[in-house]
Amino acid sequence: MTTAPLIKVEGLTKRFGGLVAVEDLSFDVESGEILALIGPNGAGKTTTFNLIAGVLVPSAGHIALDGQRIDGMPVHRIAGLGMMRTFQHNMPFAGMSLTANVLIGSHRKLRASVLDILAGRSFVRDEETQARQRAGELIDFVGLNAYRGADVTTLSFGEGRLLEIARALAGSPRVILLDEPAAGLTTAEISRLSAMIRRIAADGVSVLLVEHDMHFLLPLAHRVVVLNFGRKIAEGGSRDIVRDPAVKEAYLGEAAGALREGAPDA
Ligand SMILES: Nc1ncnc2c1ncn2[C@@H]1O[C@H](COP(=O)(O)OP(=O)(O)OP(=O)(O)O)[C@@H](O)[C@H]1O
Ligand SMILES: [Mg+2]
Repeated sequence: MTTAPLIKVEGLTKRFGGLVAVEDLSFDVESGEILALIGPNGAGKTTTFNLIAGVLVPSAGHIALDGQRIDGMPVHRIAGLGMMRTFQHNMPFAGMSLTANVLIGSHRKLRASVLDILAGRSFVRDEETQARQRAGELIDFVGLNAYRGADVTTLSFGEGRLLEIARALAGSPRVILLDEPAAGLTTAEISRLSAMIRRIAADGVSVLLVEHDMHFLLPLAHRVVVLNFGRKIAEGGSRDIVRDPAVKEAYLGEAAGALREGAPDA
């Protein structure tokens, strides 16, 4: 039996004036798959995320989520279909507690309108109670329980990144896009992050991951797509990628030999 991929990217191209940031890029992502996008600085990884999340409109090509075209849709509609993302740089809502920051992420699922809230309808309270309970579970899941009521500005950088993931998960995503989630994290936080990502994927959520830390990424990714100057130069399991001569030349260089020792069985 074959199942259709959850995300299908076909011929994706993005030009900024004369610069082609992403060129004729195609790949699929299955439900529950951890797919990594790697490549040198400026290769087009964040641009690809921005195209998938709807922040940018493609110059050419298609993106489908569960068979439905999403390219050109506004960000909030794509998010409403279950596509959640974190950013390369933390974006906390300062002056608010962790719980409030996570609750913002649950917004897409809540049915209540302002009129419902003003009318004091009981389902509004039920929804809010459930959302708060779920926010608490997610804060626990990312290991920040001790800070639940604290202001977000008291968090360390790494803790702030984990909070971003909790907020993205609050929307019950089908796909989560993580842009350099391990950057700036301590070794302990990175191993916690790996375990979290595995659990998120095991629940059937597709994880798209952009990351420069190969020791973190290679054992985690089910499949790796390698970009260079906006073009896909390789795709495969971590073991194949680290051996690929074109990938070594464009990106991994001398580090590949050392990394091969740690690469998992595909
Ligand atoms: N809004 C924009 N306007 C013009 N050029 C842009 C814009 N966004 C990205 N670019 C250019 O597109 C190319 C790809 O950038 P992108 O941010 O996608 O790279 P990246 O792979 O995420 O790099 P990094 O690893 O440094 O985060 C770069 O040359 C960048 O300067
Ligand atoms: Mg980037």
